[in-house]
Formats: sequence, structure tokens, C-alpha cells
Amino acid sequence: MSRIICVSNQKGGVGKTTTAINVGAALAESDASVLLVDLDARADLSGYLGIVPATGASGVYEALFDGETDLRDVIVTAPWYGLQVAPATIDLAAAEMLLVQSPPTERHQVVAQAIAPVAAEYDYVILDSPPGLQLLAVSALAASDEVLVPQQCSFLALHGLRQLSQSIERIQQELNADLRISGIVMTMQDRRTIHHRQVIEMVKEGFPGLVMESVIPATIRLQEAAAAGEPILVYEPEGPAAQAYRQLAKELIDRG
Ligand SMILES: Nc1ncnc2c1ncn2[C@@H]1O[C@H](COP(=O)(O)OP(=O)(O)OP(=O)(O)O)[C@@H](O)[C@H]1O
Ligand SMILES: [Mg+2]
Repeated sequence: MSRIICVSNQKGGVGKTTTAINVGAALAESDASVLLVDLDARADLSGYLGIVPATGASGVYEALFDGETDLRDVIVTAPWYGLQVAPATIDLAAAEMLLVQSPPTERHQVVAQAIAPVAAEYDYVILDSPPGLQLLAVSALAASDEVLVPQQCSFLALHGLRQLSQSIERIQQELNADLRISGIVMTMQDRRTIHHRQVIEMVKEGFPGLVMESVIPATIRLQEAAAAGEPILVYEPEGPAAQAYRQLAKELIDRG
């Protein structure tokens, strides 16, 4: 059975894309078959992995909106662990406009329909969602079994998480009754900072049982890895961030 996991948080810059890539790489490293789907028009996931379609080449946009293109047609195999990636292009910026114009029943199904023909071939399909809860992000949640929520260790965490959990409840009520939260993963922790430990405790109290034990440390290495076009597991395999993402992947497997 494949698990479709949407990496989502309304808030921008909390580590969604970094988490999608590295938890995906860690799962693939442990021999799972993994498809990463870039659902963000800025194509950060594709860019962080150095997989950017050539000008004019098809990407996720065509797989979603062009009846002639199957998601399978745009998937490429990354150089590590057999990891598969469906890259995005800037064309995806038109998605919101097209979705607004389509009937409500169809607009929420667009991601589910695109991944349905290929999902069974993978153990994990991981969707990298853009920030905010616009139509494409909602469609991604409607298509998913689970949502993994990266949350920056910061004072504003609880407020943002309350909003997000309300949104998830709405999506459960209206579009996808089976959607469950696979966990909240705290990111960008500076272990020397007492405040960060307090934030993690606060989130654990607010969301009992949902906070992952693995905490992703703040490290410039993750930015260097993205600049080098590699997962951290490849760029610095034994470093603390790679280890944290391996532990996170193990927790995800255990929670499955
Ligand atoms: N643990 C970390 N330590 C240090 N830098 C990090 C960490 N995680 C992510 N970053 C960096 O922070 C920036 C934002 O991360 P990322 O792109 O993963 O967030 P995002 O939630 O996907 O953002 P957006 O909402 O814009 O899509 C990137 O430059 C990334 O390299
Ligand atoms: Mg992102």
C-alpha cells in the first residue's frame, strides 16, 4: 500500500521543501520506492535537487492540466537511491487561475487524478506544497492520506499551528475524511537556545502525541546542500541534519 504524504504548513519558509526532499531521500535510502512531487510554481524542490526541466519541457503543470500528459511522462530519476521526482516549472503559476475557473467538484480532485495512475508503484508519494492554502494546496491535501507538518522552532509556532489544524479539520469535513496528521516536525532548532526547547515543549502540550521525536537542527549545511543540488544525506551523510532526517523517516515508517 502506498502512502501519499503532503508536506504542508500555511506559513512560508518553515522547511517544507527541505523536509520533503530529505525525508524522501531517507526513505529511499532505506530501500523504499519514493516519488517526490513538486507542487510549487517556484519549483524550489526541483531546484534544490538540481532537476529543472529544460525550457519548453513538461512538468507537473502539464500532468495536472493537459489531458495528453500523464504524470509518468514527467517523472525523472534522481542520481541517488532511485529517488523519483516530478519537477515543477513556472507554468504552474497559472494553476490557481485554471482551478478557480473549474467546477468545485473538479478543482479539488486535480492532484488526486494526476497521481492516481502512478501512486501504486511507490511506497511513498510525497507532495511538496506551496505556502498558504490556495486551491492547489487544498487539492494536494484532498489527494493525501497524511499531512506532515514542518514547524519552525519559533515563538509564533502555536498560533500558526492552531490555524493549520483548523484548516485540516475543515478539509477532513468537506473533502477528505480520511486525512490524518502523520506528525509535526520541529525544524531549525538551535540546541543552545533555551527558547527553542520551550517552544518544542509548548507545541507538545498543545498537540499531544503529534510532535515527532526527531527535531531538525538549524544548520547552514542544509542551505549548502540545496545550493549544491543534493539532499543532505548525500552532501553531509553523517552530519546532524542527515541523521535527524533518517530518524524522522524511521518514525514515519513506524507510525504508518
Ligand atoms: N534546518 C534548517 N537549518 C537551516 N536552514 C534551513 C533549515 N531548513 C531549511 N532551511 C533553509 O531555509 C530556507 C527555507 O526552507 P524551505 O525552502 O525548505 O522552506 P519552505 O517551507 O518550503 O518555504 P516556502 O514556504 O517558501 O515554500 C531555505 O533557504 C532552506 O535551505
Ligand atoms: Mg517550499
